[in-house]
Amino acid sequence: MSAQKHHRESFAAASRIDVDPTTGQEPGMSSRQVRWPFDLGLPDAATFPRSAFLELAERTLAEAEPSLFYGGPGRAGIARGHAGLRSALTERIGAAASSAPGIDGIMLTSGAAHAIELVWRALLRDGDVFVVEAPTWGASIRIGRALGAEPLAIPMDRDGMRIDVLERRLAGLKAAHRRCRLVYTIADYNTPTGWSLSLARRRRLLQLAVEYDFLVIEDRVYAELRYDGPVLPSMSTLEGSDRLITVGSFSKTLAPGLRCGWLSARPDLVDIVAGPREDLGSSQLTGRILEHFVRSGRYDQHLSQITHIYRSKRDTVVASLREHCGDTVRFDVPHGGMFLWIELAEQVKGELVMHHTAREGVLCKPGDSFFGDGGNHQQWFRMAFTMVSEPELVHGVRVLGEAIRRSM
Ligand SMILES: Cc1ncc(COP(=O)(O)O)c(C=O)c1O
Repeated sequence: MSAQKHHRESFAAASRIDVDPTTGQEPGMSSRQVRWPFDLGLPDAATFPRSAFLELAERTLAEAEPSLFYGGPGRAGIARGHAGLRSALTERIGAAASSAPGIDGIMLTSGAAHAIELVWRALLRDGDVFVVEAPTWGASIRIGRALGAEPLAIPMDRDGMRIDVLERRLAGLKAAHRRCRLVYTIADYNTPTGWSLSLARRRRLLQLAVEYDFLVIEDRVYAELRYDGPVLPSMSTLEGSDRLITVGSFSKTLAPGLRCGWLSARPDLVDIVAGPREDLGSSQLTGRILEHFVRSGRYDQHLSQITHIYRSKRDTVVASLREHCGDTVRFDVPHGGMFLWIELAEQVKGELVMHHTAREGVLCKPGDSFFGDGGNHQQWFRMAFTMVSEPELVHGVRVLGEAIRRSM
């Protein structure tokens, strides 16, 4: 089996784990039939800097002190993760802000999903309200619901979450003697829409956090995948950021298989989130390898290479959609991230499209999976463009266009 086919099949197999049974994605489909996995927001495996990692893994294993083979020094060291990587990350965060967070203001986790789960577990109780964007990353809703908390979905427009709507809803909650504990925003290149929260709204959100006493969780997993458009500052650089928890990850820029993410906040908040942690920390050895990768400047080099590649893929997918789908679809061209959020024209029967595309080996993610409200969002779907090669993108979009026409 060729390496490319192997990767495609293992990612396709992962897509079945990713499938939400309530979305109605084609059941019983074998991974071999998935030729165009546009449903997966993942990096292109061909971009992974294998030789740099080989060299750094060898160096790390040759030099590593015994604590690297265990959990790191002391209980706090174990929970917070590899100190060198935390320090390298705070320097990167600090380069964009007026001051760097101290090393106690950052904790490594097994990916951003783990960071979010830890925050939700530490902050949400049965009956609490938490705010999400509509649409958003579905797992954020599921994790909160599993804790008995109630998601409050605030609609988005091209400037991100509608903060005016949020403000009205917060006032309503207060009048009903209820409180919102946290507001979750994918402020840069949200999944699935690709939209970002404007600077004015970032500022207002942090002010509201003081007025209504909640914490803001800023998920920055896509923030460094910028292709063009405005540069928006992380909320950690803005006034009021003491009510902010920032979440980041190497999953979208390097590889989700590293399972390395982090959260950054006031040290006392990090303590609260770390408190209930019983998992004995994230990998110290991976932490050391990534520290070398970041400190040597190779991470920044890698980011500029992949943004070049993904910008070109974005342009290719946009041109192909215009050519092969014409006015059966509407979408905005995203300035960053991994996704196109596609609306089907009225004459297309949305409920049929995913069925037809899946039969042809094209998987996209149905709109319903980003709302969690039980509503009907079948005229929308998310298409990821980063993982599939450019020629396959063109081919896959042609097949998608045919499936859409068959659904009219
Ligand atoms: C918005 C968002 N946050 C977090 C995650 C999880 O990332 P990680 O692989 O770092 O756990 C994802 C993955 O799909 C995501 O889309």
